[in-house]
Amino acid sequence: MFIRAVRLDAAPGDGYPFDLPVVRALHRRGGIALPGPVTLLAGDNGSGKSTLIEAIAVAAGFNPEGGTTAFTFATRPSESALGGHLTLSRVAGRKPRTGFFLRAESFYNVATEIDQLGVTASYGGQSLHERSHGESFLDLAEHRFGPSGLYLLDEPEAALSVQGCLALLVRIGELVALGGQFVIATHSPVLLAYPGATILEIGTDGAINEVAYDQTEAVAMTRTFLADPARMLRHLGLT
Ligand SMILES: Nc1ncnc2c1ncn2[C@@H]1O[C@H](COP(=O)(O)OP(=O)(O)OP(=O)(O)O)[C@@H](O)[C@H]1O
Ligand SMILES: [Mg+2]
Repeated sequence: MFIRAVRLDAAPGDGYPFDLPVVRALHRRGGIALPGPVTLLAGDNGSGKSTLIEAIAVAAGFNPEGGTTAFTFATRPSESALGGHLTLSRVAGRKPRTGFFLRAESFYNVATEIDQLGVTASYGGQSLHERSHGESFLDLAEHRFGPSGLYLLDEPEAALSVQGCLALLVRIGELVALGGQFVIATHSPVLLAYPGATILEIGTDGAINEVAYDQTEAVAMTRTFLADPARMLRHLGLT
């Protein structure tokens, strides 16, 4: 554990991202606690998970475009100003030895940067551009993620099959046992099942609530769908 809370003390300004319901909710509640080594951010599309995780990454010293803290490349600045307003409550005497910010939209740019820095050896030995999306992400988790690291991952399941998600759960477990901390934005009912994780779900009104696995919308809706796909398809007018 390196960060035990994220605070937003100053009154947020106007415009994106300060007018997002989730940022207003964050300000109202003072921030969020990260009580354990794995915190999962859930919530519908557009609820603000990426905005939040990117701001935490910036506050923690990562390149807003993703990568390790050593990455400084920039292609098209799109990060919000929220990171500069967050205060991280750090665990005294604990500093991450390594870490990675996986930004959902820019893994391609990270792969290019890895090639240009000539550090592919640390990422499994092959250019991530020559691996499939899921293979390259699992290479990254296997070879580049190490002990005592801080990992901020935005929808890692975007690259992964269900089996790939299960492999990632196992890797997260290994790294947690080695002192790692994860904050992960996810829609995946598989990743949400990480044992003992704190699940923070952002509601439609922006409210951030700690919920149990079965209460998350992603899990409840997937269950409903899988229990009777034909019924849901009829309900949607597709059959
Ligand atoms: N650069 C930007 N300027 C203005 N609005 C933005 C910007 N980036 C995101 N938004 C808006 O902020 C809201 C939250 O976006 P965000 O990407 O954080 O959602 P999310 O929870 O990560 O969604 P998803 O599950 O689809 O990834 C959305 O309504 C989005 O349209
Ligand atoms: Mg997102």
